[in-house]
Amino acid sequence: MTIDLTGRVAVVTGAGGGLGRTHAMALARHGAKVVINDMSAPGVEAVVAEITAAGGEAVGCVCSVTDRQAVSAMIQGAVHRWGSIDILVNNAGILRDRTFAKMELDDFELVLSVHLMGSVNVTKAAWPFMQAQGYGRVIFTTSSSGLYGNFGQSNYGAAKMALVGLMQTLALEGRKSGIHVNCLAPSAATQMTEGLYSADDLKGLSSDLVSPGVVALAAEGAPTRTILLAGAGAFEQAHITMTQGIYVGDARDAAEQVQAQWSVISDRAGELVPDSGAAQYKHEVRHTLAEPVPA
Ligand SMILES: NC(=O)c1ccc[n+]([C@@H]2O[C@H](COP(=O)([O-])OP(=O)(O)OC[C@H]3O[C@@H](n4cnc5c(N)ncnc54)[C@H](O)[C@@H]3O)[C@@H](O)[C@H]2O)c1
Repeated sequence: MTIDLTGRVAVVTGAGGGLGRTHAMALARHGAKVVINDMSAPGVEAVVAEITAAGGEAVGCVCSVTDRQAVSAMIQGAVHRWGSIDILVNNAGILRDRTFAKMELDDFELVLSVHLMGSVNVTKAAWPFMQAQGYGRVIFTTSSSGLYGNFGQSNYGAAKMALVGLMQTLALEGRKSGIHVNCLAPSAATQMTEGLYSADDLKGLSSDLVSPGVVALAAEGAPTRTILLAGAGAFEQAHITMTQGIYVGDARDAAEQVQAQWSVISDRAGELVPDSGAAQYKHEVRHTLAEPVPA
């Protein structure tokens, strides 16, 4: 079925280049009106011009996602101009790579502030409008560096995994208002990955091949509370899971049992994908009640 975003209003942060640009263009191609946000005017104006030339509707907003007032004005401006804010793609990001031993804490904080607080600022500004209209699609940009770790990216990995935590809870809180919240973990050849990925691999990693994932997460039929991985035209999903584990109770040698049974604790057979944090303690308490644990 065709994904038709006609009448939908989208904001894409960091859309003056890289993945943000192709996300914005893909959303516009599917009919959405798009606000192009980035830090500098030339990039923003170029993407607005590209979308307009292709017959789409776009407007620029030059500001930092870390500037709460400016971000709030951007969202209000979109609602004022087009009547709603339906789709928010939190994409803006930076790198300050160094090993943790050598990293300045200012660089740690800066990366958290752009990725995490930047996404929080824009989402917080859009949230009341989405709640009031009973509809919203919010996408956070996470990364395999957060999900699985990456040498030299402790700040970036922490920020990107924080967005997964934010998504998990906002998906629960947004559900009754028709707001679906998901994460995208892309792989793409952009200025950010130049020199990070091998030159050969970069050839197949056009950001155009990631953006269909954003369109799917922005669609009415989008899932909620998922982590979509996308790169080179391939799509996967990451899960945060919990194993069945063991029960040792208050045994005197509980620590030794835990040590001795790592292989059972980590056995992935019957692994659970909890539907909220409470699933952990409920699963644990079930052992003490000697209830059968569902597979
Ligand atoms: N390229 C990849 O393989 C990859 C992998 C995992 C995650 N990501 C994430 O995808 C997103 C897009 O990255 P990209 O590869 O297109 O990089 P990019 O550097 O090409 O694009 C990032 C954009 O964000 C903008 N930006 C930076 N700080 C901003 C701020 N404070 N306010 C507004 N805009 C700001 C930049 O000007 C730039 O245009 C980022 O969140 C990045 O962490 C990318």
